[in-house]
Amino acid sequence: MIEIKNLKKKYSADFTLNIENLKIKTGERVALIGANGSGKSTLLKLISGYIKPDSGEILINTEKMAYLPQDPYIFSMSVRKNVRIGLKDNKKQEENLKEILIMTGLFNLLDKNAAKLSGGEKQRMVFARMLIDKHNLLMLDEPFGAIDIDFKDSLEQILSDYCIANKTTLIMATHTPAEAFNLCDKLIIMHKGEVIEYGQCGDIIKNPKTDFGKTFLKQWRITDV
Ligand SMILES: Nc1ncnc2c1ncn2[C@@H]1O[C@H](COP(=O)(O)OP(=O)(O)OP(=O)(O)O)[C@@H](O)[C@H]1O
Ligand SMILES: [Mg+2]
Repeated sequence: MIEIKNLKKKYSADFTLNIENLKIKTGERVALIGANGSGKSTLLKLISGYIKPDSGEILINTEKMAYLPQDPYIFSMSVRKNVRIGLKDNKKQEENLKEILIMTGLFNLLDKNAAKLSGGEKQRMVFARMLIDKHNLLMLDEPFGAIDIDFKDSLEQILSDYCIANKTTLIMATHTPAEAFNLCDKLIIMHKGEVIEYGQCGDIIKNPKTDFGKTFLKQWRITDV
């Protein structure tokens, strides 16, 4: 369970994140959507503890969590070394790693310096690194934003299977409708630093409460609105 109360983070006169109350239950999968600059990444950074709020509380009842930033951190060393960071000397993890490297198409890139990978290859690499461990909470910031369509489909399926197998709570920022609906049961629409819609995907699509929610979903070409 994640519970947010009276959370505030001011960056400038133009932008303050302001969330009075938000609860995400264990095992829920939530897509975080909204225009550029609406506050999706800021919210994920706050929940993950990457940045501190000015005021308010974030209560997290979760043991093991992973956060994948929009611009993932890459060590300037081989892909092999990058994906092994944090790996314990554990036979089960070694077996998992081999399977994950195959699934994410990284096998032929293992000796390449990760700093020289393409944007999509970097995303596949940090995604692979995350899959090695079992996490109760994943906070993913546009994890497939640079990934081509072939890999995107299979990585979505891998993520969905992972969340179901591990009963993982997922919060994922995305600009892609299909990704949100394939992977998540709930939607948060952010606008100017606030959560303006939150609920089951189907309910929000049929009955957005706000004018901005309606307009935004129309831009997503979701015809039920
Ligand atoms: N470190 C910072 N210092 C000052 N302003 C910031 C900082 N980080 C973000 N902002 C501003 O806060 C606002 C929200 O940014 P944020 O990155 O959360 O948006 P976003 O919804 O993730 O957008 P995108 O879809 O482009 O990823 C933006 O106006 C941005 O310019
Ligand atoms: Mg962002």
